[in-house]
This record gives sequence, C-alpha cells and structure tokens, in this order.
Amino acid sequence: MNKFLLIAALLPLAAHADDLRPLRDAPPAFQSECGSCHVAFPPQLMTADDWRRVMRSLDKHYGDNASLDEKTRQQLEDFLVKYAGSAAKIGAGKTARAGELPRLTQTPWFERKHREVKPADWRHAKVKTPANCVACHTKAAEGSYREREIVLPDGRRWED
Ligand code: HEC
Ligand code: HEC
Repeated sequence: MNKFLLIAALLPLAAHADDLRPLRDAPPAFQSECGSCHVAFPPQLMTADDWRRVMRSLDKHYGDNASLDEKTRQQLEDFLVKYAGSAAKIGAGKTARAGELPRLTQTPWFERKHREVKPADWRHAKVKTPANCVACHTKAAEGSYREREIVLPDGRRWED
C-alpha cells in the first residue's frame, strides 16, 4: 500500500484509541454469549493473539465452561481479532502460571490505567475480581468507561 494511504488509514484508530464504545458491527452473539456472565469486554483491550487463545479454549474458560457451536465461536473470534488492541499499545496479558489463559486485567495498559486505584478498593467485597468492571464503571454493561461514570464500591465518585 502507498505509505500515505496507510498513514491515513491508521489515523482514525489512533484518534479513538481509548474510545471503547460498542462496535457497530458486533455480532448479536457477542452481547448474548460474551456478556451473560460478565460484561462483554471491549475487544480493544487484548491483543489478537490473546483473544485467539481465549476463543480456542472456551470449554476451559477461567474455571467455567463457555463453549459455543463452531460457527458462532469462529464468528466471535474473527470479530475480537478484527478490533483487538495492538501489542505495542496494550501489551500481552500476563498469565500467573503456564497454561493459564491471558487476562485483559493483567496487561501493562490495564495496570497503567488503574495504578491510582487503591488495594482496598480492589479488595472490596462488591468487587471480587478486577474483571468485575461494573463494580466501579457504572455504564460498563453499555460499553462505556468514562471517568465521570466511575463510582467506587463504597459509593465515592472518582471525579466530582
Ligand atoms: C459461563 C459464564 C461465562 C461465559 C458465557 C463467558 N465467560 Fe468469560 N469469564 C467467565 C469467568 C467466571 C471469568 C473469570 C472471572 C474472574 O475470576 O476474574 C471470565 C473471564 C474472562 C476473561 C478474562 C478477564 C480478566 O480477568 O482479564 C475474558 C477475556 C473473557 N472472560 C472473555 C469472554 C468471552 C470473549 C466470552 C464469549 C465468547 C466469554 N468470556 C463468555 C465466565 C464466562
Ligand atoms: C475497583 C474499581 C474498578 C474496577 C473493578 C475496574 N476499574 Fe477501570 N477504572 C477505575 C478507576 C478508579 C479508573 C480511573 C483511574 C484514573 O483516572 O487514574 C479506571 C479507569 C479505567 C479506564 C480509563 C478511563 C479513561 O477515560 O481514562 C478504562 C478504559 C477502564 N478503567 C476499563 C476497565 C475495565 C474494562 C474493567 C473490567 C475488566 C475495569 N476497568 C475494572 C476503577 C475500576
């Protein structure tokens, strides 16, 4: 591709890098299947490699079984990979032990964004796991993570 066309094609991505609003071409199964036990996590928050690993072991999904028929599984994998975050921006999800699935809550990007959150807030009984985005991001179920929507589990607003 022509170098300038390539840059022009990448610019909108850079400008909206932190725009996590739901993607208009998300297959309906993304919300119904991946948003039933937890929020449908924004695809932008993990790399394509990490999404592939998650989508290829749905029968052993962080201690749960999230299996899908092959057609739906492939459709969702394609969607997640299409909008996956770049390794340069997000970084790979760390895994505590070999053989464990990567976590978007353990990427360098996620840790940087949350470095001001206090240990006591993470440990709050209403949080349980960092993957419980809705415990603090009141509009996470709708895919919105704006700072002014954050209410910590003890009722404190992050931004006044
Ligand atoms: C049957 C319930 C269930 C379904 C359906 C499900 N998940 Fe999960 N998912 C879980 C549980 C449980 C965890 C682990 C939560 C924890 O302990 O932190 C998890 C964790 C995750 C994580 C790691 C979050 C982190 O900690 O960073 C990702 C990524 C993920 N799920 C993606 C998906 C995708 C994509 C789908 C749809 C294909 C899906 N899940 C469907 C139950 C489910
Ligand atoms: C214990 C509360 C808590 C949980 C759980 C939590 N977050 Fe956050 N998150 C915060 C706080 C507080 C900030 C703002 C930090 C700051 O500005 O320094 C934040 C910031 C963010 C931002 C950046 C917002 C911006 O405009 O800069 C994103 C995106 C985000 N979180 C996504 C997530 C996702 C996705 C999950 C679940 C996988 C999650 N968070 C879980 C508290 C939480």
